[in-house]
Amino acid sequence: MTETPIYDTGIPWTDGYNMAVLGKTQTGKTSICRELQATSPRVSVWLNEAGIDRVDDVPGYTVQSIDGLREAFANNEFAIEWVSHDRQRDILELQKFLFGVADRADRELMMQVIVDEVQDVAPQDATSEDMEAVKTVRRFCKRGVKRNIKFVAITQDPTAYDKQALRQSEYRLIFDMANENRKSSVLRKMGFDWDAVDATPDRYTGVLHDDSGTVLDEDVKAEARFA
Ligand SMILES: Nc1ncnc2c1ncn2[C@@H]1O[C@H](COP(=O)(O)OP(=O)(O)O)[C@@H](O)[C@H]1O
Ligand SMILES: [Mg+2]
Repeated sequence: MTETPIYDTGIPWTDGYNMAVLGKTQTGKTSICRELQATSPRVSVWLNEAGIDRVDDVPGYTVQSIDGLREAFANNEFAIEWVSHDRQRDILELQKFLFGVADRADRELMMQVIVDEVQDVAPQDATSEDMEAVKTVRRFCKRGVKRNIKFVAITQDPTAYDKQALRQSEYRLIFDMANENRKSSVLRKMGFDWDAVDATPDRYTGVLHDDSGTVLDEDVKAEARFA
């Protein structure tokens, strides 16, 4: 009998492997992730921006600091929105805290992190000031899975997101995209089925691929209440 790792439920939406959500603007990327945040059996933390760039209507209990996050965990909140004035700083706090929780829980607690506009947190063309955050996102993507932490990265600009982190996504949910992105070397190598993406009935329907390029689901669309 093969042993299934605890993070592997066999279901892309609930298992512990990472997911990248890619597509041009206004295609429903954020909406499907609201649904994921609300319905995942994982303890899910959405690292949101503060101010005008804050994503609206993120489901869950709102916190504004690492202390707030600790309290939310102590109160067994399942969906948490961390509203951050500095995501590049706070992602490191988040990573240290969640890895600590995972170690204390013997990795049996299922967790998830969602980061929208992830290219702002971990840019491909990183300056030295960005490097700490880039390394943190890579750490989440490379070492989170073993700790039963799923990292969900959303971006409308996949070539601007750190390549090393992007490559660590087992699942890739692909919405419509401009040709220059489709043809970029990093995306070409990922081998998406563009015919399937173009065949969806509307712009809000995405195609879920695994990291071999195999299509797992051609009909991924947020429920209206999350859009
Ligand atoms: N499944 C859906 N059905 C209908 N409208 C949708 C759906 N998903 C998204 N939308 C609408 O499309 C717009 C963009 O959605 P959003 O999730 O913010 O896209 P993105 O994050 O890709 O820019 C919103 O106004 C939203 O209400
Ligand atoms: Mg969005």
